Amino acid sequence: MENKIADLMSRIEAMKASNMQEIEDLRVKLLGKKGEVTALFDEFRTVPPESKRLFGQKLNALKNAAHSKLESLKESLGSLKQDGAGSGNDLTMPGTPFEAGTRHPISITRSEIISIFRKFGYDVMEGPEIEDDWHVFGALNFPPEHPARDMQDTFFVTTGENPILLRTHTSSVQVRAMETLPLPIRIVCPGRVFRNEAISARAHCIFHQVEGLYIDEGVSFADMKQAILLFAREMFGADAKIRMRPSYFPFTEPSAEVDVNCNICKGKGCNICKGTGWLEIMGCGMVDPNVLEASGIDSKKYSGFAFGMGVERIAMLKWQVKDLREYFENDLRFLHEFETVI
Ligand code: PHE
Repeated sequence: MENKIADLMSRIEAMKASNMQEIEDLRVKLLGKKGEVTALFDEFRTVPPESKRLFGQKLNALKNAAHSKLESLKESLGSLKQDGAGSGNDLTMPGTPFEAGTRHPISITRSEIISIFRKFGYDVMEGPEIEDDWHVFGALNFPPEHPARDMQDTFFVTTGENPILLRTHTSSVQVRAMETLPLPIRIVCPGRVFRNEAISARAHCIFHQVEGLYIDEGVSFADMKQAILLFAREMFGADAKIRMRPSYFPFTEPSAEVDVNCNICKGKGCNICKGTGWLEIMGCGMVDPNVLEASGIDSKKYSGFAFGMGVERIAMLKWQVKDLREYFENDLRFLHEFETVI
């Protein structure tokens, strides 16, 4: 019996298989009802009691060797056949698709605004979200007592002489541009901005802007009007009309608020445009000479215009989103509505 065990042990060690069927055949040959290992266990019954201990151990080792050999044959077969052929996988089954994400409406709108201005020859410039008082207010002609400089409206990181704060508009990037770039300057500045506002359907403490700046010799209000009209036509359709209403910003003079005709009721008056037929889309104006001088630009030689719009607002008008909070809540039912928009 000892010889039989040793012989079978060495044959088990040398066993090879090239597919699952061959492994199964080996299993039957060794461990099946009439298998060789099974037969030795039967023979074990006739072993004299004093040898039972020794042969019992040897037989168990043999059985374990048979099991681990079959396992390792299966494993090596699996790694050889990584294409799955013969591995028992059904290659004709459709794969499990993994869900592709969709672009966020804010990101879609931001890219669209930027690509329109790129076509007009504008570069893109970005700047820090945490800014100093000078770039957000000081250089932009905000008087020290201006309400925007109040804790109520601005998030301060530090207070005191020259506070650090979260930018309330991306006009701060325009200041950095005027301080550093050679003239003429033609840029758009996209980015996140922060205002200390109560969150509601129409306001949020974080939102996105794209602001623009064009400075050169002889830039006029008419140039600004034309640029904004062309933008509105690209964004809202070829028959879009704009109108400008006088407004006030510390950094522009004269300043205006731009409206586009309501694309929902086509000017007849609806609840989106509150019956006026017009929707406000941005603020703009001729850069105040004080602002040019503060950044070291000769205001006698150069003039320019600036404009700024809220990306959430433009996206609201484009897709008739009624509540601004939708953009931030990541509700998949909302986000999936933009699946088909590229
Ligand atoms: N910075 C202004 C705002 O955040 C927008 C603006 C930019 C207005 C440029 C005029 C000119 O409200």
